[in-house]
Amino acid sequence: MVIGASGASGTLVSDALEKNGHEVVRASRSTGVDLVTGEGVDDALQGADVVVELTNPPSFEPEQVEAFFKVSSKTLADAAARAGVAHHVMLSIIGVGRPDNQGFYMRAKEVQEAAVRGSGVPFTIVRAAQFFEFIEMMSMSMVEETARGKKIVAPGHAFQPVALAEVADYVAEIAEGPAHDAVVEIAGPDRLPMPQAIREVFQAKGEQWEVEPAEDAPYFGAPITDDSLVPHGDVRRGAQTLREWIAAQG
Ligand SMILES: NC(=O)c1ccc[n+]([C@@H]2O[C@H](COP(=O)([O-])OP(=O)(O)OC[C@H]3O[C@@H](n4cnc5c(N)ncnc54)[C@H](OP(=O)(O)O)[C@@H]3O)[C@@H](O)[C@H]2O)c1
Repeated sequence: MVIGASGASGTLVSDALEKNGHEVVRASRSTGVDLVTGEGVDDALQGADVVVELTNPPSFEPEQVEAFFKVSSKTLADAAARAGVAHHVMLSIIGVGRPDNQGFYMRAKEVQEAAVRGSGVPFTIVRAAQFFEFIEMMSMSMVEETARGKKIVAPGHAFQPVALAEVADYVAEIAEGPAHDAVVEIAGPDRLPMPQAIREVFQAKGEQWEVEPAEDAPYFGAPITDDSLVPHGDVRRGAQTLREWIAAQG
């Protein structure tokens, strides 16, 4: 059962699992499964061997993000335990739980991770780096109005973004295997400063944005460091570079 199956990662993970011969129940509110109200969750999990959690809140307002992950993760973890699911896979983010990474979104993901770890269901938490596909949306949360117009003020720190397609294939691979009862990580091939990646993405789109690096610019609500978003230990490295991904967008 894939929850969040209509989303960016959910669609690709569901497709990959089906391509590999698995029966996939694609769940989200659009199919009558709501992790906030609990509607349809038990039914969708009936007979499921594995649940893959790929949800995101409809709004990125801090209070709503926090409330969404707190409620949805508990609803799913409890239901997975009731259903006797053998493996709960959850997509998280590299750097969750680090003291220098305490923005509201990261703290909400920490709550979500805790629900997965605490349910008693065997689990694997897949922490991914930022998707190339996410860079544009992320930048829009960094827009500042000035007297001269709008600009993007981005943390001048490193990250190691990755192609969503490679993350999806990795999540599917993890879902097909045994639970690790641990965190595994996937990032892109290159570490680069966030402002540089933002500039490259907008240049390729032909959009003129002033991108200003700032050491203390918040990342979803709190400042970060050069260490906050990059992998520390063993990591699956994607092959596609940001430039190759941009070129492939046509
Ligand atoms: N973006 C990145 O760079 C990045 C990096 C690492 C990890 N991640 C993680 O990847 C996960 C998936 O992200 P995504 O970009 O694929 O998400 P997305 O495209 O925003 O899709 C979110 C999914 O959640 C579903 N959903 C929303 N509210 C729901 C509810 N109440 N009950 C059930 N389903 C609900 C949505 O479908 P309906 O609207 O039909 O319900 C949709 O299928 C997130 O948890 C994120 O933290 C993202």
